[in-house]
Parts: sequence; C-alpha cells; structure tokens
Amino acid sequence: MEDRYRSEPLNRHHDRASFSCGVEVLDRYFQHQAGQDQRRGLAALYVLIDATTGALVGYHTLSTFSVFPKSLPAELTARLPRYETLPAILVGRLAVDRRYRGQGLGQLLLLDALARCLAISHDIGALVVVVEAKDDAARAFYEHHGFLPFADHEHRLYMPIATIAKLGL
Ligand SMILES: CC(C)(COP(=O)(O)OP(=O)(O)OC[C@H]1O[C@@H](n2cnc3c(N)ncnc32)[C@H](O)[C@@H]1OP(=O)(O)O)[C@@H](O)C(=O)NCCC(=O)NCCS
Repeated sequence: MEDRYRSEPLNRHHDRASFSCGVEVLDRYFQHQAGQDQRRGLAALYVLIDATTGALVGYHTLSTFSVFPKSLPAELTARLPRYETLPAILVGRLAVDRRYRGQGLGQLLLLDALARCLAISHDIGALVVVVEAKDDAARAFYEHHGFLPFADHEHRLYMPIATIAKLGL
C-alpha cells in the first residue's frame, strides 16, 4: 500500500479547496491558512497523495516546539540536566479526507510525520514528538498509536523520539 501513496511538501498546485475531514477548524485551516503559515515559517505542511489518482488524501503539519520538564513523567526527565524547557517537535494538525477514512491512511500519515520527526531530530535535537488532539476521537486515535497524555494538558500527547527510533521507520 505504501507504494501507492507518497507524501510531499504542500505546494500551490495541490487542490486544497475540496478537502473535507469533517472537523471544520481543520478544513478551514487547510483551505485558508496553511499556505500562509508555511510561507511565514510557522509550520511545514505535508500532504499525502494517492499516486494512482493524484488525489490529496490528507495532511499534517510540523513545527518546532518546547515542553516544560514538569509536564513529562519523571522517568523520562530524571537523568536530564535541569533545563528550563526541553526540545520537541509538534505535529499540530493531522487529518484524512472523509472519502479515504478507515483504510489505514491516517496511520500512514502519522507514520510519515513520525519518520520526518525522527530524521529532523538528527539535525536539531528533540526529546519528544508532541501531538495536539482536537477532540476526544483524535485523542483516542493517538493513544491507539502509543502516544501518552501530558499530565497538565488534556488534549496534548507525546511520544519519546527514543520510542520512535525503535519503530524501524
Ligand atoms: C483521526 C483520523 C486521522 C484517522 O484516520 P483514518 O484514515 O480513518 O484511520 P486509519 O484507517 O488509518 O486507522 C488506523 C488505526 O487507528 C484506529 N483508529 C482510527 N481512528 C481512531 C479513533 N478515533 N480512535 C481510536 N482508534 C482509531 C483504527 O481502528 C486503526 O486501527 P488498527 O490499525 O488497529 O486496525 C481521521 O479520522 C481524521 O482525519 N479525523 C478528523 C481530524 C482529526 O481528528 N485529526 C486528528 C488530530 S488534529
């Protein structure tokens, strides 16, 4: 299946207008703000394309991020120096078009985001990947894939880069 789909940076030739994941803020963001965020350096946008049809199946965003050590469990931070904040990568938004749901493409998109985070972490250093879940269903999706909740943030979850490194991506 992986051969059929490719991910690439968003560009102006991608058809964003017809994208619909059913969560209005994510649709509106992708249609009206994503390009601007990318140009301004606020987020890198990646899209998943069905190579056989050219259809845009989903998107995710990556940005640098930082977390307070006290937000993470002691076993992850106990042996670290007492830095004020710790480096992270944020998957701020991730969505699959409704027409392509339930075919493993959300997972493919997430694995693409994680593989990119792992590669980036070799260049800039990052302890964890953080995801923002827009609602309970999104939170359940990330928990299903092994993300752990922050103690002090209901809809924010994380996965250590060390865990991602073991996934063999
Ligand atoms: C969440 C979303 C990305 C899932 O995409 P999808 O293509 O339907 O999911 P997949 O088919 O890849 O599912 C992969 C696995 O995750 C599970 N899964 C999917 N959605 C889930 C959910 N809401 N809760 C728990 N598990 C979920 C599937 O059962 C499947 O499990 P399996 O591998 O054990 O069989 C998609 O529903 C979506 O875009 N939702 C709206 C936007 C959104 O909530 N984005 C997330 C955070 S901003």
